[in-house]
Amino acid sequence: TPAELELRRHAVQGLVAEAGRMALDYFGKQESLGVSMKGAQDWLTVADGAVEDFLRQRLAVLFPTDTVIGEEGGGAASDAVWIIDPIDGTSNFARADRNWCISIGFLLNRIPTIGIVAAPALDELYVARRGQGATLNGRPIAVSGTEDLTRATIELGWSTRIPYERYLAILQRSYAAGCSVKRSGSGTLGLCHVANGRTDAYAELHINAWDVAAGIVIAGEAGASISDFFAGDGISKGNPILCSTPALAPQLREITAIS
Ligand code: IPD
Repeated sequence: TPAELELRRHAVQGLVAEAGRMALDYFGKQESLGVSMKGAQDWLTVADGAVEDFLRQRLAVLFPTDTVIGEEGGGAASDAVWIIDPIDGTSNFARADRNWCISIGFLLNRIPTIGIVAAPALDELYVARRGQGATLNGRPIAVSGTEDLTRATIELGWSTRIPYERYLAILQRSYAAGCSVKRSGSGTLGLCHVANGRTDAYAELHINAWDVAAGIVIAGEAGASISDFFAGDGISKGNPILCSTPALAPQLREITAIS
């Protein structure tokens, strides 16, 4: 029921704030971060594991029958699943750049329903519940009104999971269309920045569910057009994502070839 969902949103919002304070304790203390690499440009710090363990333990107590999927510990989907990224933008976090966040999304019967993203080093908290709008630090947010690519700023995320030539082709087409293109290193915040109008679109050819589950609810509630990320095996294997203002969506579908 809506009341039950509101209780979940409220409980998890507190949890994410607590996890944010925990991560902030590690942030900037380079000597105790225990930085390691999972692969090329795939960063890990001791904070990732510690925050994910904390979130898993607390979610298990709050919602014992729900399942949890997390970046570091895996997990399987169910009708009621929490998808967590203990730290998104780990490359930024590891190098004392403030653009990182903690992200929790809730899917009910495969429908993205609750999204909470805390960026504690920026003092920003994004919250959204399906059908109830999205807020940043308690104030409603909405996508920009940008209609013209020559005024648009788009964020393009990438990883070594996809051959770089495909990203270069998107970059080339975006540049030719007159877009400003950037990459800030957190897919989750990339979606949140479409939601509050700091950018006009976020695109990536492959991203994992924990990087986008919460951001999809936040951007969707702020009025963004979003590709069907949870189609097929999206939840377990990831998918492409394109999230933009509705007016730019058709043009960006052509540029990115993501539909
Ligand atoms: C990564 C970031 C990055 C995106 C990558 C993700 P992580 O997640 O969101 O911006 O381009 O695809 O893997 O490793 O920082 O949690």
